[in-house]
Amino acid sequence: MSVSSKILTLNEVIIQKQSAFPYAKGDLSRLLSHIGLAAKIVNSKVNKAGLEISILGTADNINVQGESQQKLDVYADETFIKALQASGLVCGIASEENDEIVIFDDDLSLDSDYIVCIDPLDGSSNIDVNVSVGTIFSIFRRITPAGQKVSTEDFLQPGTKQIAAGYVIYGSSTMLVYTTGLGTTGFTYDPSIGEFCLSHYFMVTPKTGKIYSINEGNYSKFPNGVKQYLKYCQEEDKGSDRPYTSRYIGSLVADFHRNLLKGGIYIYPKTASAPKGKLRLLYECNPVAFLAEQAGGLATDGYGNRVMEIQPTSLHQRISFFTGSKNMVLKAEEFMEKYKDE
Ligand code: AHG
Ligand code: MN
Ligand code: MN
Repeated sequence: MSVSSKILTLNEVIIQKQSAFPYAKGDLSRLLSHIGLAAKIVNSKVNKAGLEISILGTADNINVQGESQQKLDVYADETFIKALQASGLVCGIASEENDEIVIFDDDLSLDSDYIVCIDPLDGSSNIDVNVSVGTIFSIFRRITPAGQKVSTEDFLQPGTKQIAAGYVIYGSSTMLVYTTGLGTTGFTYDPSIGEFCLSHYFMVTPKTGKIYSINEGNYSKFPNGVKQYLKYCQEEDKGSDRPYTSRYIGSLVADFHRNLLKGGIYIYPKTASAPKGKLRLLYECNPVAFLAEQAGGLATDGYGNRVMEIQPTSLHQRISFFTGSKNMVLKAEEFMEKYKDE
């Protein structure tokens, strides 16, 4: 990973990268800028979450202006939807917060090329306790012809068709990490100038790390392959990095981001109580998989299938999810294969 010495903002980098595609209209670049803008609005709200819940909010959830308080994940959902519709570059959105797709049918949007899948606020159970949360997004080209309303089919495309994907992490600092398939790039928000500044030019995740991240409270419900892999992670092996260390926050964005930088594996397997897995293919797994792969990592379902090649069959489809450092994901896959019948 190289760190730039000159300050470059998100918009400057997007424009620079666009010049690599002389025939591009610049729509995708503008769309990414609009996502950055919505992220700044949500960031300012997330930063005030403690104030609003503990100080400004009343028992009836009415704030000092007399407006009813919105849950932050609804607020984030509405903010991103408004910003994306205002861009005129998006014809529809699938959001974890909405049962059905949101269709933009104003004249400008009907003719636009892109659809967006979004988890507006990931890890929302962590808001009240001041732990990092995030936004995850994924951009595809529409399938239905321009001028028509988009349909659910437009959103059921495999992750290999993603044009861009990324996340915002609202953490000890706020970062936006994205890829358009030319590597994974990270920007850190500087609140004093209100800009995302380039901080991680070409993110490369270590081939092997020392961290495993999984909700071990679910241990008794894990497939045996996962149990055996965890045993391997915890075993002492002189001359290697094992035993690994365990880190799990419960916000995918934060758990993934840490492992991306330091090297590690994140697993959310099928469990007896979530037999299809918990994480959602469209809003969480596909975008994270794209970022992982672009940083040299891997993302599979633990059963030998590359996440980005899974054909979605429904909007809110869940899958089991293994992602992170390449060698660790491959090793976990080995255990899953060896103990597949148990
Ligand atoms: P969301 O807040 O968008 O519903 O996502 C929560 C997800 C993910 O962020 C996290 O990794 C996982 O749920 C945590 O699940 P457990 O509490 O079951 O560990
Ligand atoms: Mn989520
Ligand atoms: Mn969410």
